[in-house]
Amino acid sequence: MKEKVLIFRPLRKEDIDELHELLNNLSERAKLFFHPHPFDKKTLKELCSSERDHYFVLILDGKIIGYSMLRLFHYTVPSLGCCIRNGYENRGYGTLLVRWTLEEAKRLGYKEVILHVYEENKAARRIYEKVGFKIIKRNDEKKELRMSITL
Ligand SMILES: CC(C)(COP(=O)(O)OP(=O)(O)OC[C@H]1O[C@@H](n2cnc3c(N)ncnc32)[C@H](O)[C@@H]1OP(=O)(O)O)[C@@H](O)C(=O)NCCC(=O)NCCS
Repeated sequence: MKEKVLIFRPLRKEDIDELHELLNNLSERAKLFFHPHPFDKKTLKELCSSERDHYFVLILDGKIIGYSMLRLFHYTVPSLGCCIRNGYENRGYGTLLVRWTLEEAKRLGYKEVILHVYEENKAARRIYEKVGFKIIKRNDEKKELRMSITL
């Protein structure tokens, strides 16, 4: 069988149309779990020139199938977010993308990464627990967990 080519790299302006399509075609359930910013092209263009935050794509055989981010929100500890293209879930790509994004965080000099995840987001929680994130706070009202990992 032909070897699959996976590329992880920072988001570029030339990715905007494809990322826009990926984000807007996420399932309705995925959109409930993943709403880091508006999914319009103007916003995506602005992300490419962010001076503090980091946005990445995962490319499989020339097609963007994953998107991840490390955002500071004016703090010093970056917050991780990620999604996998509709139809490409449950093949291990989310785990690879999270692991790669954490390596990138380490390379950028961060010592810790945090995230927020909805309690019922089982697939995301499974990945985060698998790679070593620990629950540091529960928000019972929002049914959300805050997790952290030391790099
Ligand atoms: C969360 C997401 C990134 C996972 O990507 P993925 O490529 O499907 O992840 P993987 O295949 O690497 O791993 C998924 C894991 O969850 C498990 N899983 C999937 N659905 C599950 C469920 N309903 N209950 C329990 N475990 C589940 C899988 O078995 C797998 O675990 P394993 O590797 O031990 O077998 C993807 O589903 C997604 O984009 N979701 C919408 C956006 C989102 O929720 N982002 C996270 C915001 S915090």
